[in-house]
Amino acid sequence: MTKAQRRRIAILTGGGDAPGLNAAIRAVVRHAVFTLGWEVLGVRNGYNGFLEPDGVFPLTLDMVRGILPLGGTILGAANRGNPFAQEMEIDGRKVTVDVSDDIVARIHELQLDAVIVTGGDGTLGAALDLYRKGAPIVGIPKTIDNDVPGTDFTIGFDTAVSVAAEALDRLHTTAESHHRVMVVELMGRDAGFIALHAGVAGGADIILLPEIPFHYEVLAAKVLGRIRRGRMFSIVAVAEGAYPEGGQKVYRQPGEGLVEARLGGISLQVADYIAQATGTETRALILGHLQRGGTPTARDRVLATLFGAEAVRLVAQDRLGHMVALRGTRVEALPLAEMLAQRPKRVQPDDDVLLAARAIGTVFGDEIDRLRSAGEAGL
Ligand code: F6P
Repeated sequence: MTKAQRRRIAILTGGGDAPGLNAAIRAVVRHAVFTLGWEVLGVRNGYNGFLEPDGVFPLTLDMVRGILPLGGTILGAANRGNPFAQEMEIDGRKVTVDVSDDIVARIHELQLDAVIVTGGDGTLGAALDLYRKGAPIVGIPKTIDNDVPGTDFTIGFDTAVSVAAEALDRLHTTAESHHRVMVVELMGRDAGFIALHAGVAGGADIILLPEIPFHYEVLAAKVLGRIRRGRMFSIVAVAEGAYPEGGQKVYRQPGEGLVEARLGGISLQVADYIAQATGTETRALILGHLQRGGTPTARDRVLATLFGAEAVRLVAQDRLGHMVALRGTRVEALPLAEMLAQRPKRVQPDDDVLLAARAIGTVFGDEIDRLRSAGEAGL
């Protein structure tokens, strides 16, 4: 192989971690090093690694052996690592600095033919801006939230749904034994895909999504209707971004162990309301980062392997500035600019999973007209 054919690429994992990232890293290294004879470098802690001492290191076949079933990322993640707005402390003062030019310069200094960036829309947005500044970028979409447009699925979503569905199964047995309502808060930011899919898989009676503002009366009526039919317990799956009609999303504010505000706490408000309105014992649970940790499902491993191998193929074809995407059962390439021109992906009113859930009697909290015309019986 001539020097011109032997390429040198790097991979980084930006934003929050997602189960399946290690499978993607493994696929990139195996395709590039084992099959093509290229050189691969790993970048630690997202984009930050480019500017850290020892932040870039050779990634060998040995280093990716055995990582396929491991959650997290062997490269480390950083969800506050935007190169265009790095938060730093200079002389004891917090300042925001644009280090994008330094990163592009470092990429050129390392003589990289490509940087494979795995990330959600934030990390991939920065990737596009770096590409426009001359960095050779290929993207891989990952996030448990599944909100990246242009791809049917992102790495990590399937695992998060499986963990959440298992939690709902476990809560069913204790809810039924104690004749209680269990309200489970699931991640997803402003997208309801995790709550919708886990809620359906776990047989939730009520699913609350950010895309469908809910009416509290509907929730109480559904619980009471079930009690009248002899179902003395109910399961509610609520997305962290869900909110009542005319109300607001609930955030935990900085200072409670957080550097910046994070969605969280709507389940407590929903549980309080249901307990008071129905007189039923109700408990709330925030499932949290359990949904992001641990071993990826087989489906996430397959998706990550498809994406990793395809990303290397895009580099071989000089299709930089693209991201890999799943459309139906096919892996395709999509210009990053085209992906980012679209609105973030959200659950649509005609989503087949949503419609199927409605068809089997699952309530989403917006059935206020049905409640007003037919009462609890309508739910
Ligand atoms: O975007 C992934 C995600 O897990 C969201 O579902 C969640 O709202 C957020 O990240 C949590 O962020 P952090 O890990 O910073 O607490």
